[in-house]
Amino acid sequence: MSDPVNTRRFNIRPQDAASRHPAIVECAAILKRGGLVAIPTETVYGLAGSALDAAAIARIFEAKERPSWDPLIVHVSDFEMIARIAAELPANVRTLVERFWPGPLTILLKRASHLPLPVTAGLETVAVRMPAHTVARSLIAVANLPLAAPSANRFGRTSPTTAEHVLLDLDGRIDAILDAGPTSIGVESTVLDVLRTPPLLLRPGGITREQLEDAIGPIEIYSAPQRVQPEALTSPGLAARHYAPQARVVLVNGQQEALLEAIRQQVATEGERGEYVAVMAPEGWLDQAALSAGGLVIFDWGTWGDWTQLAQNLFSGLRYLDKPGVNVIICPLPPEEGLGLALRDRLMRAAR
Ligand code: TXA
Ligand code: MG
Repeated sequence: MSDPVNTRRFNIRPQDAASRHPAIVECAAILKRGGLVAIPTETVYGLAGSALDAAAIARIFEAKERPSWDPLIVHVSDFEMIARIAAELPANVRTLVERFWPGPLTILLKRASHLPLPVTAGLETVAVRMPAHTVARSLIAVANLPLAAPSANRFGRTSPTTAEHVLLDLDGRIDAILDAGPTSIGVESTVLDVLRTPPLLLRPGGITREQLEDAIGPIEIYSAPQRVQPEALTSPGLAARHYAPQARVVLVNGQQEALLEAIRQQVATEGERGEYVAVMAPEGWLDQAALSAGGLVIFDWGTWGDWTQLAQNLFSGLRYLDKPGVNVIICPLPPEEGLGLALRDRLMRAAR
């Protein structure tokens, strides 16, 4: 591990994301020098470095302790920039991205031959997205660089939706953080392999399956085979236990009675050992018995059925509950509809 650096902190409001804003100018300069900056996007914070600079890419993997087999997403601010990292957009893909970009959709394209190989972990495709966050896009445009940016957490941990989350994992390992407040969507982008027919949904995320199918017709959903080494998977990052709190995550059916029953059981067994039980609690779901149970730590997750709100709060909730002394986090599992699909995916990987 490299010597610690002083991580500089810049603040900016999303509505102030002009190209002359001093925080943007300063962070663009750091990126041009090959430095690393944690940046806000509409999904989660990303750890950005120039996608064209092999040394910067190596530092991203080191700071995150990310295995070299897990490829990065490259972020662009406009369509012209794609030519610097990938082959031209196929015509049928152009319609799709014109509908969802800028926004939380990542697509796979054939990579440009000069792109440093570690960016794609040696794959022939590169994952590309145009973020909707004004600060992210302004920064990419001012730096005039396509930015490789995985989520700004240490590998395997919960993704960061605030600057505080980023600093807990990466303070002293990166040159700067650009703090624009909490992210709005709260789960990562949808990753879609558009080079296949039908397109293959590799990671459910901010753009829902329903939205995609409305735009392009039926798509397939990838399910990672069990007992395969991650490096051998179609999308390597989809494997492993991920988004993972230290505490054990126990998932229950998305029904109030199932949640209450799980709380009763866990409080009884864990309480005996003096351990805390934590719960991601939908509004109005806890009864008096649960509310007055000693040893229960509660996070008010939001309104069940409002998947947008639950997605916004998911990672801060898991981080909030993951405290010393908390042995188990109980969480009801949303159905496979809308953003519920992304919520299920993150929770099931946290529980693996
Ligand atoms: O919302 C997001 O996508 C955030 C923000 C910062 O943009 N970024 C993000 O990056 O979530 P990361 O690195 O945490 O997740 C990228 C995922 C990984 O699961 C990786 O394996 C997959 O995308 N991926 C990247 N390039 C790929 C490729 N060429 N083929 C298949 N999967 C790829
Ligand atoms: Mg990640």
